[in-house]
Amino acid sequence: MKFQDKEHLYGNNNKKQMIPKIILIAILVTIIVLVTPLSYPLFGSSLMMNKSMQSSTSSNVDSIKKETLPSTSLKNCDIFSGEWVPNPKAPYYTNKTCWAIHEHQNCMKYGRQDSDFMKWRWKPNECELPIFNPFQFLEIVRGKSMAFVGDSVGRNHMQSLICLLSRVEWPIDVSYTHDDYFMRWKYPSYNFTIASYWTPFLVKAKQESSDGPTHTGLYNIYLDEVDEKWTSEIEDFDYVIINGGHWFTKPMVFYEKGKIVGCHYCLLENVTDLTMYYGYRKAFKTTFKALNNLENYKGVTFLRTFAPSHFENGLWNQGGNCVRTKPFKSSEARLEGTNMELYMIQLEEYKISQKLAKRNGLKFRLFDTTQAMLLRPDGHPSRFGHRPEDNVTLYNDCVHWCLPGPIDTWSDFLLEMLKMERVKSKKERPHIE
Ligand SMILES: *[C@@H]1O[C@H](CO)[C@@H](O)[C@H](O)[C@H]1NC(C)=O
Ligand SMILES: *[C@@H]1O[C@H](CO)[C@@H](O)[C@H](O)[C@H]1NC(C)=O
Ligand SMILES: *[C@@H]1O[C@H](CO)[C@@H](O)[C@H](O)[C@H]1NC(C)=O
Ligand SMILES: *[C@@H]1O[C@H](CO)[C@@H](O)[C@H](O)[C@H]1NC(C)=O
Repeated sequence: MKFQDKEHLYGNNNKKQMIPKIILIAILVTIIVLVTPLSYPLFGSSLMMNKSMQSSTSSNVDSIKKETLPSTSLKNCDIFSGEWVPNPKAPYYTNKTCWAIHEHQNCMKYGRQDSDFMKWRWKPNECELPIFNPFQFLEIVRGKSMAFVGDSVGRNHMQSLICLLSRVEWPIDVSYTHDDYFMRWKYPSYNFTIASYWTPFLVKAKQESSDGPTHTGLYNIYLDEVDEKWTSEIEDFDYVIINGGHWFTKPMVFYEKGKIVGCHYCLLENVTDLTMYYGYRKAFKTTFKALNNLENYKGVTFLRTFAPSHFENGLWNQGGNCVRTKPFKSSEARLEGTNMELYMIQLEEYKISQKLAKRNGLKFRLFDTTQAMLLRPDGHPSRFGHRPEDNVTLYNDCVHWCLPGPIDTWSDFLLEMLKMERVKSKKERPHIE
């Protein structure tokens, strides 16, 4: 049994393995493979359907962040600047209590021996970040809806959230389609809906070839065109969490106004290499513009910033791996190179769009996970994202995050931001009315 896993790095795979056992039997497994054909290992007795599948910040960054960060009524605190500190009480779920753990992020199942990587919490420099309280979260989002828009790291977060919320309630599948890339879940007692939208490039994209110069596919990216698969449905959401990054390392041909304008490592004659950064910037520009232009959209948009991967001693396809078992201290890791570029582009485009959004009465917020995740080389599946004998192209996954694991902290951030949102809207209301 093998699964060919060229796309594993980018985890474009399934979403439907998060199905409550009760209704599982009723659900017909349809394997939808959009990019490369994949076959999946059979995971023995598992009831789940297993189909699937980058501080120091410069002063520039600081100035951008200062202006955009939410603050509590109590004091100004940048919750995203801090350190990981031990938390013996973690984790708050296990692979036995939560069925929503993606197969490739179920690290304990595949033999990871150390568990210290689960036992940390984020301590902002100037305040405390409370551990996620699922009851409080569900009260705040009662009657609301939340969309995760982007790639498999966004899905990784959604699944972590489902696990954290499972102490209170399991969601039911209310998906509109059988397409695993577009799942929708509802928390019945709270009338809270979460949905995931698969759009790894955020804008309209088409796979031109499954091979390409690096044998990881060649993509046509229409940088000035929205991906209607998500933009057509997003208006109704109260919270929209946007993410993207890892897919932009693939070979791409860029289109604008329907014409080729350049590419990233496409090795095509007469096509200028504009680098991935060109495409990345434009994709975010188009995405934010789309949100700003939606007629009925009233939601809060969160830009969940790039979460660095941690391949050491080689690239992902050249033997690189992530074998550390402890977080870095903030003094031990610097945001640099590609991680820094991608992050800065996000911040710059976010800043531009946020000004526009403000004028339109829309809320754009920075969900700034980059620094915290830069410090977590220990939190990836590495070789524990599959059985040892499985023939996978990305043998060592240093992109996604083990569950339970450091990505659970994103829900700590999220809840804190939602709480601040309430404080803000109370403050802002007198001006609006
Ligand atoms: C959970 O992890 C344990 C190892 O800690 C493993 O033996 C077991 O198969 C896993 N269970 C599931 C349901 O993934
Ligand atoms: C559930 O929430 C939606 C908005 O997400 C709202 O339109 C609907 O009326 C709510 N239903 C109930 C029963 O409260
Ligand atoms: C590239 O440009 C040259 C000079 O304009 C032209 O002769 C050639 O046909 C072009 N190649 C392709 C593949 O378009
Ligand atoms: C692993 O998969 C690759 C690509 O499908 C294939 O070329 C190779 O022969 C496989 N190796 C083994 C040992 O199955």
